[in-house]
Amino acid sequence: MIQLIRGFKDILPGEVELWQHIEKTATTLFQDFGYKEIRIPIMERTDLFARSIGEDTDIVEKEMYTFPDRKGDLMTLRPEATASICRAYIQHKLHSSDPVRKFYTIGPMFRRERPQKGRYRQFYQINLEVFGIESPLVDVELIFLLATLLTRLSIFDVQAHINSLGCPKCRPQFKSALKNFIDSVGDRLCSDCTRRKDKNPLRVLDCKVPGCKEAMIGAPSILDHLCPECLDHFETVKSGLKSLQVPFIVDPRLVRGLDYYTRTTFEIHTGALGAQSAVAGGGRYDGLIKALGGPRIPATGFAIGFDRLAEIAAMNNDNFERKPTLFIAALGEKSSTMAFEWSCALGLAGVVCEMDLTGKSLKSQMKRAHRLGAKYVLILGDREIEENTAILRNMTTKEQTPIGLDNIVESIQVKI
Ligand code: HAM
Repeated sequence: MIQLIRGFKDILPGEVELWQHIEKTATTLFQDFGYKEIRIPIMERTDLFARSIGEDTDIVEKEMYTFPDRKGDLMTLRPEATASICRAYIQHKLHSSDPVRKFYTIGPMFRRERPQKGRYRQFYQINLEVFGIESPLVDVELIFLLATLLTRLSIFDVQAHINSLGCPKCRPQFKSALKNFIDSVGDRLCSDCTRRKDKNPLRVLDCKVPGCKEAMIGAPSILDHLCPECLDHFETVKSGLKSLQVPFIVDPRLVRGLDYYTRTTFEIHTGALGAQSAVAGGGRYDGLIKALGGPRIPATGFAIGFDRLAEIAAMNNDNFERKPTLFIAALGEKSSTMAFEWSCALGLAGVVCEMDLTGKSLKSQMKRAHRLGAKYVLILGDREIEENTAILRNMTTKEQTPIGLDNIVESIQVKI
C-alpha cells in the first residue's frame, strides 16, 4: 500500500471540525479589523524565496522543495507566504491607489525539516500582513490580534516575546560588535555558524545547537545599539501593548529565522507545545518590498502555525463534530425509498439526516444511530407504512412518539 509522504499528514473528519472552528474564529476577527483575504499560489520561482528569506538561512539552504520544471526553470513549493504576498502587491500595483493594504491568507507551506511533533514538512499557516504603515501601532495591533485569537480559542498559557532588530542605519554597528564577539568564541561554533558568521552574524544568534547557544551567552544585545528612531519605535510598541494589557517579555535574542526583518520582531510561545514552542512569529520587514523591485513601502505581519495552534486548541476546546439530528431506520425497499426522499428534503432544510442504504437489520441500524450520536431516530417499516404512522424516538429520553406520514418532513422539523 502506498503510504503518506513522511512529514505530511491527513486531517481527518473528527479533527477537521476544530480546524474549521479555528479558521472561522480567525477570519471573523481579522475581517472585523478590516483585513481582506488574498490567495496566492503554492509554487513560485525559487528566486523569490531566496531573495526574500535570505540565501544563508536554514529555510533556503536546506529546507525548500525546489526542482526544475520541464523547461528547466527552478520552482519552489512555498515555505512561507510573506514573499508571495509582497510579489502580488508589487505585480498588481496594489499600492498605486492606496498603499495601505491589510491582508490575511491561510494555506499549506512546505519545508523539508526533520519531522517531529509540531513540525511537519507540509504544515499550514494563518498569515496576516499590513503594507504601507510605518507606525509601531500596527505592530501593536498584530500582537493584540494574536493574543485575542488565542484567548477566543481558550488558549491561555502563552507569552509574547518581542525584540527590535533595528534598521539599515543602526544594524551595521550592532553587526560589527556581534562579529567581534563571535570571533572571540569562534572555535566553539557549529559548522553552519562558522560558515555564516562573517556574512550574516545574526544567524549565529538564532542557532538552536546547544554548543552555539552556550557560546553566545554574553553576546552584545541589539537593544544597546538601536538608533533613536528605532528606540522610539520600540518604546511605542511596548507602551501600546501595555495599554492594551497584552503581556509580553523583551527578548533581545529573538532574531527569527528569516533575513527580511527590520525593527519589531515577535513570537508567541506556549508551554503546551514542548520543544516546538513557537505557535506564531512575525515582525516588520520595511525593506522587503523595495528589495523585490517595488516602491519603498513599509510592511509588517505574522504567521501562526495552524497545526501547532490546532494541537493546543484541541486540549481546551470541545469536539466540534456535527452529529446527525435524525437517523431514519427504514426496513424494506419501499420504506427505504420513502426515507431517502425525506432525508434529501431534510438535508436541504439544514437538518443533518443519516440513514442506512445497505439493508441492515433494525438492531444494527439502531446501533449505528447510537454510534453516530443521532438525537432522534425515525423508525419506518412495512407496518408503519400500512398504519400511515412512523415512530420518532428521542435517543436521550428514549421517549417514542407516533408521527403521521403525510407532510412528515414538515412535522419532523417542528418536533426536533
Ligand atoms: P516562521 O517563524 O518561519 O515565520 O513561521 C511561523 C510559524 O509557522 C512558526 O511560529 C510555527 O508555528 C509555524 N511553523 C514553521 N515551520 C513549521 C513546521 N515545519 N511545522 C509546523 N509549523 C511550522 C514565517 O513564516 C514568516 N513568514 C512570518 C511572517 C509573516 N513574518 C512577517 N509576516
